[in-house]
Amino acid sequence: MNEFIASLGQICAVIGAQWGDEGKGKAVDALTEHFDVIARASGGANAGHTIIFDGKKRVFHLLPSGSFHAGKKIILGAGMVIHLPTLLKEIAELGQSGVEILPRLTISSAAHIVLDCYKDIDAALEERRAETAGKIGTTKRGIGPAYMFKAMRAGIRMESLTRSAAELRREIATIADMARSLFGVSADADGELELLRQAADSLRGCIAGADEIAEFLNSKKSRILIEGAQATLLDLDHGTYPYVTSSATTAAGAIHGLGMAPRRLSSCIGVAKAYCTRVGEGEFITEAAEPAAGRLRERGGEYGATTGRPRRCGWLSIPNLRRSATINGFDCWNITKLDVLDAESEIPVFMETGGSGALSWKKLPGWQASTVGATDFGELPERAQDFIAFIEQETQIPVRLIGTGQRRGEMIVRNV
Ligand code: IMP
Repeated sequence: MNEFIASLGQICAVIGAQWGDEGKGKAVDALTEHFDVIARASGGANAGHTIIFDGKKRVFHLLPSGSFHAGKKIILGAGMVIHLPTLLKEIAELGQSGVEILPRLTISSAAHIVLDCYKDIDAALEERRAETAGKIGTTKRGIGPAYMFKAMRAGIRMESLTRSAAELRREIATIADMARSLFGVSADADGELELLRQAADSLRGCIAGADEIAEFLNSKKSRILIEGAQATLLDLDHGTYPYVTSSATTAAGAIHGLGMAPRRLSSCIGVAKAYCTRVGEGEFITEAAEPAAGRLRERGGEYGATTGRPRRCGWLSIPNLRRSATINGFDCWNITKLDVLDAESEIPVFMETGGSGALSWKKLPGWQASTVGATDFGELPERAQDFIAFIEQETQIPVRLIGTGQRRGEMIVRNV
């Protein structure tokens, strides 16, 4: 592990290469002890990072997955959109497990606040799309509307929590007016104000200005682990538009969302499942038919951590991995959930063949043996090793981390 950790340098980003839910949380949780700071840069409670801690399954939506590690500083960057009651709930739940968050939490004053009425706008827009262009299948967490209000220069930022109640009331009234006139949604302005005031009491001391955060992030003192949210193919600019989220989900987006100088990033780990899933609508060329899709879903527990929706399941797409690797500049892969493929007799992979750019399927032989809990590459069946070597060969990027089970520690770390 140590050699691998050293290779990551001072600032490392962990970025999803597919459509989210790759299992970034597990890698972040495993790496956190080697870093001083864990940071989230973009997105909001549409994310759902599941990790198994003390034998219990925990899902985080806003706090980074590494938050369990006592003493690590936590930063929520300017690119995020934060639903305050959700954040307070996560902080309280962790508090009940003896994990204190507030003294080590810093939230950018420029991060935007997700009001409850944004969720109603999200739902209203989905209903209209269903009757016209077709639904996106959002998580209905109000993420799109939060970024819409941000782009309209009407959003409420964390800094507002430090202002007077009268000022906050005015800001909320402006949004309530827009919600009604633009989207036909009536907001409960008093209720929203009350939620913000409650949050202000708990969080005021955690809010820091852009200068303070930039100074800290760029100071060369701390080792920083950036936890990506959503994933590259859901990026607003580089993903499968319009079936994308509303934020920047790439490594560049994370750097921007935190206010970090681009040159400061020392490494980037691309996280991809050994197969592929997607929730919501949109293209998915490698989507599997039944019964294979059902097998992957059941073995992989492929149900949305945020919405509980069954995930669409399918096979690996090498062109998609390559594209994500190019956009993000991955130094290595974390291939997750290898064990989910244990029972497959053959593993279809979508790839370019014959140098002409034509796309077709290749069927790799399955290993049909358990890889669960393997921590050493040599323990893997030969065909599973070949599968990993195939990904390396096709993407020209080494696979350094391999997930072999749900639990902490069920992971192979390769130093070479
Ligand atoms: P939104 O981010 O709620 O607006 O949803 C837009 C699209 O992104 C939908 O297809 C969602 O299912 C998808 N999405 C958003 N966050 C995640 C995530 O954390 N994992 C997987 N899909 C996500």
